[in-house]
Amino acid sequence: MKYISEIKNDNGIPTLYVDGQPFQAFAGEVHNSAAYDPEKMETEIWSKMEQSNLNTLIVPVYWETLEPEEGKFDFALVDALLKHADKYKKKLILLWFGLWKNAESAYVPGWMKKNSETYFRVELYGGERLNTISPLCAAAVEKDANAFSRLMEHIRDTDENSAVIMVQIEKEVGLLGTERDYCAQAEEVFGRSVPEILLPEQTEKERVTWKEAFGDDAEEVFSAWCFASALEQIASAGKGKHPLPCFTNVWLKQFPWYPGSYPSGGPVEDMLWVWKAAAPSLFTIGPDIYVPYVLDIMNVYSRPDNPLLVPEVRKDAVTASYALYAFLHFHALCYAPFGVEDLWADQPSDLPAEVIDALKLDPLSFNLSGTKEILGEVYRILGEIRPLYLKYRGTEHVKCFLKQSDGDQGCYLKFKNYNIEIQYLPRTDGAPAAAGVVFELDENTFLIIGMMCSIRFHTKPGDHRRVDFLTKEAGTFHVGKWVCEQRQNGDEKIVSVLYNMPGCFRIETFKY
Ligand code: DGJ
Repeated sequence: MKYISEIKNDNGIPTLYVDGQPFQAFAGEVHNSAAYDPEKMETEIWSKMEQSNLNTLIVPVYWETLEPEEGKFDFALVDALLKHADKYKKKLILLWFGLWKNAESAYVPGWMKKNSETYFRVELYGGERLNTISPLCAAAVEKDANAFSRLMEHIRDTDENSAVIMVQIEKEVGLLGTERDYCAQAEEVFGRSVPEILLPEQTEKERVTWKEAFGDDAEEVFSAWCFASALEQIASAGKGKHPLPCFTNVWLKQFPWYPGSYPSGGPVEDMLWVWKAAAPSLFTIGPDIYVPYVLDIMNVYSRPDNPLLVPEVRKDAVTASYALYAFLHFHALCYAPFGVEDLWADQPSDLPAEVIDALKLDPLSFNLSGTKEILGEVYRILGEIRPLYLKYRGTEHVKCFLKQSDGDQGCYLKFKNYNIEIQYLPRTDGAPAAAGVVFELDENTFLIIGMMCSIRFHTKPGDHRRVDFLTKEAGTFHVGKWVCEQRQNGDEKIVSVLYNMPGCFRIETFKY
């Protein structure tokens, strides 16, 4: 029987199951236009994924090519994706580019674009229209839900090997340039009482205005409600045909911090509660992270009700450090640098400076030096140690570390018999940041995997004996097994340092 991927709670840890097994998506997301050309995708992406050990590709499905004529569907591009996923034995996360992508409606079919009477657009205060179809346009949301359902039906009927493991609904929704929609329908709904589900239980008043309930945040909460409700309708319609896990992603709230400078109504941190209430069919909200404070963002979007899933992230070498930490510390279900094909291209397509500026991306996040190899090795090792990870996750026998800022010098990890001092090496261009993990295999045996750090063992406070190594091995994992590459003693025993490329030590200690 075909296994449909699902999210299960394993001892409090949300876990993605694929083909009946726990699965971590070591992924990359392709550029927006890549999927229009399946042949080029095969030569430039599918056939190269192994170079960085990706097991999953995140790829758009465009509504405009799926339903070029109203009511007539063309699944050719989807079929090509399924065929290539099977051929290269990879998994797929589909991005449903439906009504909204980056706060606009650029991927809706031509017949919808041209009919702005029926499929009306968001209006700014004063009446000017945005190129964004209003989330209050019931006709448009219905059409999107219908097209998305057809897509899910098609996947159900044709994806024989369950290549598609999740679907993202829309992309970075919200409104740019305004805090809310001011079209006639929006004005009418904004004039009504706030839906009960958004109000505290003890509210007694029959009618509560958005302003009364949310003050300065009223417009943003209203936008969030409108978009979340539309996505709920779309997601639930599709899941009704084929119950794949569905999520959406977010353009982060960032400088200058006012709604409309980032897409207002998107699932930013302080609107998550609205999204959770209005869109229960989305199992999580995934952050797109191009800011320098990646760790803070992963912290925010990793909650018991929101398993960490990073559908887009910077792709300079430091991304490898975050990937390691995302999977091992936050139990991420998926991690995916954006425009991943650039890693394998002879001439990567640089995003124009204007795009970087318009989308408020950190320009450094697109520096590719070192990423292909370092991220590739992180993904490879993560795949190899999966049984260890599954055995130890959530216990005190595994601890992760990550250099959090330039001033962060290291950490001190406490285990039963020993404490381990990890000193971080300074970060340089094209290198990852210090990051890693320590597994306490038994009271005296440790496996350390990481980069850009040095390691020193200490006895516990009050224990004045000295620590030494019974054996020290530098090595790696192959086919799930530890492979010793060098037994170390003498000069090589004195320091235990890991540099740019992720490395591993297996150390047995004793005290004297
Ligand atoms: C975020 C969007 O979600 C992506 O589709 C892409 O436009 C990147 N920004 C920047 O290239």
